[in-house]
Amino acid sequence: MKSCRNFFALILTVLSINVQAQNTNAKMNAFVDNLMSKMTLDEKLGQLNLPGAGDITTGQASNSDIGAKIREGKVGGLFNIKSVAKIKAVQKVAVEESRLKIPLIFGMDVIHGYQTEFPIPLALSCSWDMKLIEKTAHIAAEEASADGICWTFSPMVDIARDPRWGRIAEGSGEDAFLGSQIAKAMVHGYQGDDLSKNNTIMACVKHYAMYGAAEAGRDYNTTDMSRSRMYNEYLAPYKAAVEAGAGSIMSSFNEVDGIPATANKFLLTDVLRDQWKFKGFVVTDYTGINEMTAHGLGDLQTVSSLALKAGVDMDMVGEGFLTTLKKSLQEGKVTIEQINQACKLILEAKYKLGLFADPYKYCDEHRAATEIFTDANLKTAREVAAQTFVLLKNNDQLLPLKKTASIALVGPLANSKENMLGTWAVAADYTKPISLLAGMKNVLGSGAKIIYAKGANISADKEFETRVSVFGKPLERDDRPADVLIKEALDAAANADIIVAAMGESAEMTGESSSRSDISLPQSQKDLLQALVKTGKPVVLVLFTGRPLAIKWEQENIPAIINVWHGGTEAGNAVADVLFGAVNPSGKLSTTWPQSVGQVPIYYNHKNTGRPLGEGKWFEKFRSNYLDISNDPLYAFGFGLSYTSFSYSDISLNRASIKPNEKLDVKVTVTNSGNYDGAETVQLYIRDMIASITRPVKELKGFEKIYLKKGESKEVHFTVTAEDLKFYNNDLKFVYEPGTFKVFVGGSSDHTKENSFELLK
Ligand code: BGC
Repeated sequence: MKSCRNFFALILTVLSINVQAQNTNAKMNAFVDNLMSKMTLDEKLGQLNLPGAGDITTGQASNSDIGAKIREGKVGGLFNIKSVAKIKAVQKVAVEESRLKIPLIFGMDVIHGYQTEFPIPLALSCSWDMKLIEKTAHIAAEEASADGICWTFSPMVDIARDPRWGRIAEGSGEDAFLGSQIAKAMVHGYQGDDLSKNNTIMACVKHYAMYGAAEAGRDYNTTDMSRSRMYNEYLAPYKAAVEAGAGSIMSSFNEVDGIPATANKFLLTDVLRDQWKFKGFVVTDYTGINEMTAHGLGDLQTVSSLALKAGVDMDMVGEGFLTTLKKSLQEGKVTIEQINQACKLILEAKYKLGLFADPYKYCDEHRAATEIFTDANLKTAREVAAQTFVLLKNNDQLLPLKKTASIALVGPLANSKENMLGTWAVAADYTKPISLLAGMKNVLGSGAKIIYAKGANISADKEFETRVSVFGKPLERDDRPADVLIKEALDAAANADIIVAAMGESAEMTGESSSRSDISLPQSQKDLLQALVKTGKPVVLVLFTGRPLAIKWEQENIPAIINVWHGGTEAGNAVADVLFGAVNPSGKLSTTWPQSVGQVPIYYNHKNTGRPLGEGKWFEKFRSNYLDISNDPLYAFGFGLSYTSFSYSDISLNRASIKPNEKLDVKVTVTNSGNYDGAETVQLYIRDMIASITRPVKELKGFEKIYLKKGESKEVHFTVTAEDLKFYNNDLKFVYEPGTFKVFVGGSSDHTKENSFELLK
């Protein structure tokens, strides 16, 4: 009886939410229709225009070219303008001096935090902790909205399997299932449950689509793939973000099937609108429309009309819409319905954000002064960062370090602040991050025995370092000869028990337009590392990176390696917490690390081929392999060590077969068999043994992060249904096919227990 009442109460709640939503929609439609009935064609086109503000000053808000355009109703929004004072000044021009007083929307690349920077997205994905990731996005939204911003160009959900591509740092790695969970978590984190609140901001999912599959890992390069691969391996995270309610989506720079994404009707209308029912608006990437001229699609007028017709609503920076659509309308190349539709979607977004009700709702000086870069947010940043580090090797339990040890801290990233932040930290203050040296001193206090020496520059090549300068600020260099620098590091090592080498990539060695053909440590750092190893003292390599590196020599020669990515504002403290054992590392890789760049693209969920290698073999003639290297990665997807160890029981299934409407319970017992308390991410994979199209050798289908005290055991259960076994067949229908499935559970994709079951008809 009670459950009956609960059921009816639930139905009533759902119905009343639906009615409320319909009422809100009806109100919004009436408001937007009424407004649009008053708008001229020019004013409508103005809404589709998104200039970049540079860093406009408050005076310029009124006097500049942009100020004049806003007054004339030729601007729909602005991005890259920072601070309440400036945003308020610009908004004032829009709502007090333009004819229809339509407020502007203010965007920014708030990618992994606002002023409190969290680790780069690739690092965050290695936490496999959705609540934590959502929390980082929520804090980013709180800080950004306190400073005038209501729209972020995030999450970036592009699947990437090529570590040469610098933008791998901005996404969640190589797996569509993990990527989809993170996409949802981030959209919820930014938008909350109510976009009209003043501490939530609108998400913009990017870069739609397949931007991460650029040929040769070179940024902006051509992408081409079968529809089967697209649907089965690349599209899921965008779809998940759309289903989570993302308010906007950004088209990508690359072409797909010979048509740049920005004019790709298949992507922007057939898939996005018709199949996924996306209700928000589409913005281009930076000059994405103009670039279609270089792609070879025609002049600005032609490409602008192609973009509008394909489904683009807002034009970032290039002003193709603003300057050519009127002519195209007169010439019958676009229709007024197409322009109206785009304008309507942008006005709706502003309505949903509550900007019509209060255009200054994000311009609260008090919030700006009290809610940004707070102690509480910094504390979270420190905790989060420690969860993202991946322990790659730890021979003889070299880590954690004893606090009493005397330590030689060497390397170009040992005493660096700005490089802790990583790429896309546009709102951050570069003087604020905690360096590793400072973090170690903070943790060790007055008893610290640390001898610091830089030992090497990031790269010996000055020009290379100029290319990776942080916002125009060149990297700090030590121009003395390399052997002098190395000698200094060796002197430091001579007086220490242990060497901590802080090496890797500077912040801007990944990110946009930062592809590398050689993904090993730069030679200057290799030379230093080799010299350090020769001392015979134990070396801990602390790697700062924005991508997987090829570090075979290091794996073979260094006893302990921990990858700490670019960990954000609190990186130095968080690394010290882990090095000295206050936090036990638990990160697991979300991308495969190759032995050598020649194996790229290398990813765990590959196909079997008709000539797979025999179990345990690394070369067989006429098999799919290399002459000079095994097929194995250096570190597999899902891999990551802990100071403790975990053992897994065999997998037990509650039945040998399931019908399509039944559930399979997959159970393992995981035991913390080592000497520390710790967290483990238990991963569930499946393999469809026989299907109408070839299926991957393993596919992630579930994961759970558990915390176990030393000696403790826990049963972990996963539920598998036919829904989880679906894939897109060759007619692009999302289906399951009865037959045998293998199921794997373990702490890494290459280290699992195995069982199997049947899916019946
Ligand atoms: C990048 C986007 C970014 C945009 C605005 C582009 O160059 O590709 O990711 O959101 O600039 O800054």
